[in-house]
Amino acid sequence: MTDTTPATLTVRDNRDGSEHELTITDGAVSASEFGKQTGLALYDPGFTNTASCRSAVTYIDGEAGILEYRGYPIEQLAESSTYLEVAYLLIHGELPTQQQHEEWVHEITFHTYVHENVKSLMQGFRYDAHPMGMLLSSVGALSTFYPESRDIHDEQVRHEQIVRMIAKMPTLGAWSFRHAQGKPYIYPDNELSYAENFLSMLFKMSERQYDADPRLVRALEILFILHADHEQNCSTNAVRSVGSSQVDPYSAVSAGIAALYGPLHGGANEAVLKMLRKIKTKDNIPAFMEGVKKGDERLMGFGHRVYKNYDPRATIIKKACDDVFEVTGVNPLLEIAQELEKIALEDEYFVKRKLYPNVDFYSGLIYEALQFPAEMFTVLFAIPRTSGWLAQWLELVDDKEQKIARPKQIYTGERQLKFVPAAERWA
Ligand code: CMC
Repeated sequence: MTDTTPATLTVRDNRDGSEHELTITDGAVSASEFGKQTGLALYDPGFTNTASCRSAVTYIDGEAGILEYRGYPIEQLAESSTYLEVAYLLIHGELPTQQQHEEWVHEITFHTYVHENVKSLMQGFRYDAHPMGMLLSSVGALSTFYPESRDIHDEQVRHEQIVRMIAKMPTLGAWSFRHAQGKPYIYPDNELSYAENFLSMLFKMSERQYDADPRLVRALEILFILHADHEQNCSTNAVRSVGSSQVDPYSAVSAGIAALYGPLHGGANEAVLKMLRKIKTKDNIPAFMEGVKKGDERLMGFGHRVYKNYDPRATIIKKACDDVFEVTGVNPLLEIAQELEKIALEDEYFVKRKLYPNVDFYSGLIYEALQFPAEMFTVLFAIPRTSGWLAQWLELVDDKEQKIARPKQIYTGERQLKFVPAAERWA
């Protein structure tokens, strides 16, 4: 007979000797049950050991360097799938049939246009506006163009917003890029694939149809696939947290874009390039590494909250680098990056702390080779991450266990001070 007794954890409070028994489910104990029984809160800045949801979207084993979307290993998807098929998989939970795929691609392709007033809105930004600031504002603004999106409990309405957002992100991202260059915004070309169309809106000038090199198109598809989701990272947590107020998905996703803007998240690849430029030559690497070990510098593109092994996306990107550089010529910073990696992988400081290259270590080099200015890197991340954010948002909306996000705090300020009016204080 198998033992059906639930696994439990006994917590003993040494202040009064009381014991509390907590049920262990899925490798976790309930924080609210813990609070009810013990009267204690769990202190966890940055949620390093707090599960905020149950999710069936993305699986990561950081120790083993494994990443799977809906159970499919990232390596297989990057090798043989397309971004839109992966987006379908993330959103719907399973791979599409041929008919579902055709319908999905058709829907996305025919929602790439935005209202002309969105264009005017974007044109109103300063000439040197950061494209990520433009993207997050214009995605937020879409909620005013689709007020029905507030009806988040209607399945059909949700589907329409998901299609719209995945479809329009390349348009908004490309226009925010053209804006800084003072070039006319290019309208979507519905005869092109998702990645080709994006490249067309970025780089087309007077030619009738933009003709992208298929190797670059494939490299972009791979980068999109690798960035599509990454479970409960900072921006996804922002989408879920804001989404938990039951706001429309445009507003929730624009919160995700805002989170991604930061240098410790999506901005790390830009920081990698700055770092490589600052190092300048291979001879300067030892001195730089000393600075890192002393805590004066950070080796950007290294380390990860979850991966304590090589980030599997970094391996795939490193391979994609070769394909891109075959078309564009080698980025001279590559040599410095490779040398840094070699040294770090053997150095005790990095080995002991399990610091390995993450997805951002090489992606900036590829983006730069593709002629993107550094400000565009996070935009290139946000476009594909939209499908992941929306898959997570859908899960949140349907999750009966979810509540509005509202963490506790440990108050450290003053109490019960006596307020003296300004006129008396300054007399
Ligand atoms: N260079 C030097 N030391 C580092 C680095 C680094 N890149 N990353 C972590 N450490 C050290 C850190 O100083 C600490 O050492 P000690 O124990 O002596 O105090 C130890 O390693 C643990 O670091 P942590 O800051 O507690 O780790 P974390 O999980 O809070 O931070 C991280 C994760 C990604 C923010 C951090 O590794 C980092 O700042 N890396 C550089 C920025 C970067 O590449 N970010 C992109 C992350 S991947 C993007 C994504 O998946 O969305």
